[in-house]
Amino acid sequence: MNNMFETRGDMSFQADAEIIVQALNNFYEQSIAGEGRVIQQPPMSALIAEMELDSLVRDGGLAGKKLAQFIDRYLAAITRIYHPANIAHQQAVPHYMAALAGLVDNFVSSDGSIYEFGPASVSIEYFLINWLLQKVGWRPAPLNPQRAADEIRGGGILTNGGSLANLTALIAARTRIAPQVWREGNPRDLALLAPAETHYSIARAAGIMGMGHSAVYSLETDGRGVIIPDRLPAAYDRIEADGKRALALVANAGSTAVGLYDPLQEIGAFCRERDLWFHVDGAHGGAALLTNKHRRLLQGIELADSLTINMHKLMRVTALCTALLVRDAQSLDQAFTQKASYLFYDKEQPGFDFHHRTVECTKSVLGLKFFMVLAAMGEAGLAEYIERQFALTAEAYDYLQSLADFECPVEPQCNILCFRVKVAGDIHLALRDRLLARGNYFVSTAALNGERYLRLTLTNPATSLDDIKGLVREIREVLDSDRPGDSPEV
Ligand SMILES: Cc1ncc(COP(=O)(O)O)c(C=O)c1O
Repeated sequence: MNNMFETRGDMSFQADAEIIVQALNNFYEQSIAGEGRVIQQPPMSALIAEMELDSLVRDGGLAGKKLAQFIDRYLAAITRIYHPANIAHQQAVPHYMAALAGLVDNFVSSDGSIYEFGPASVSIEYFLINWLLQKVGWRPAPLNPQRAADEIRGGGILTNGGSLANLTALIAARTRIAPQVWREGNPRDLALLAPAETHYSIARAAGIMGMGHSAVYSLETDGRGVIIPDRLPAAYDRIEADGKRALALVANAGSTAVGLYDPLQEIGAFCRERDLWFHVDGAHGGAALLTNKHRRLLQGIELADSLTINMHKLMRVTALCTALLVRDAQSLDQAFTQKASYLFYDKEQPGFDFHHRTVECTKSVLGLKFFMVLAAMGEAGLAEYIERQFALTAEAYDYLQSLADFECPVEPQCNILCFRVKVAGDIHLALRDRLLARGNYFVSTAALNGERYLRLTLTNPATSLDDIKGLVREIREVLDSDRPGDSPEV
């Protein structure tokens, strides 16, 4: 077996894998027990020296004891995702099955888009896209893709992240409205409708597509940053008055800063009326589709043309793993070159190639980890987890609102919660720095209506209300230590 790896000395796949598994297990046990700091940020120069990167590269032979030492040093400087006080970002706290899938995939080194490279990996991605399409209420793709479809069928692609999925959706929307773009370049009259609260990847996509940020027309929102459907006609008329054409309207399911859902039913009806491509960015909150209890947040989703859902946010899958789903598979088949779909459907093969639907050529296998997590938890188990996190966030909201010295700007709808300490002046960025320097709680921040808030994303199944209470005590302690006469604690 060793020969296969061109190894030397005491290198052995199985022995080294056991070292890694042991180290990861220790990391997990310590993290979940809340031992040590959730976050530490030593200077990078010190870390590069500490991990002995120079000599490892020079001498080689990373195996056995050397490997154990390296991996311990590495894990010591990794933010502890499983720690109950990891309540900052939208990144999933993964199920271990995702890691095992990663091991399998990296070992066999398959491909996620070309059937002949990995019939099993591509089949799983095809299966998962169909599974998700049915959750949306769209028709799944036929299992024999060569059969000419006599009706509109859904389709999709797993992408390396929500940003890439959003870009892909907008490219498909642009091809629909301006099919000559691939030959003649971008027409000058294209515009995009989106609320200011959309993730920055939407404006970035407009930039990448050569439309420029000024082509993004802001939709009017209420005080919570949620689209006001009654104002949609005025926004659309503004575009027309400027001599432009809207290629798509983008809505959030939930917004990045505060996790709120736009009213998809009303927006969808408007888009259908105007024959306007409707893209829903459900990178964060699309997971609510999996629970009967919260599915209503996405009511009207079936009216959309495309939907982004990240599995590496609320579905316990390691980054990156995103699905871009479309109501009509043809719109994605034609996204990159107009004629690709005809070429594709003429081809006889036992499976399916995804490569005409993606920016990438070689594409990493993304479905295996999602599938293995889903199969380990079962769909009911995953739904139960999502419901637990939403319920915990609602509890944390009630608790913070009950305190005289804290307030939340909006009632949460998913697992994102913003709050502030009731003090004069904008202290929250500095407060976050102080909290991170202490390392006991990892929180993020976001702005809404020009006001800065601390922000929690409760994706961690190990976090409970007691951790939120502990955070409140910690914040009060930090603020007390800042009072005149006291010396700062950090
Ligand atoms: C609503 C929304 N869309 C898109 C993204 C980008 O996703 P990714 O980080 O996977 O590129 C995010 C990430 O936070 C998001 O919250």
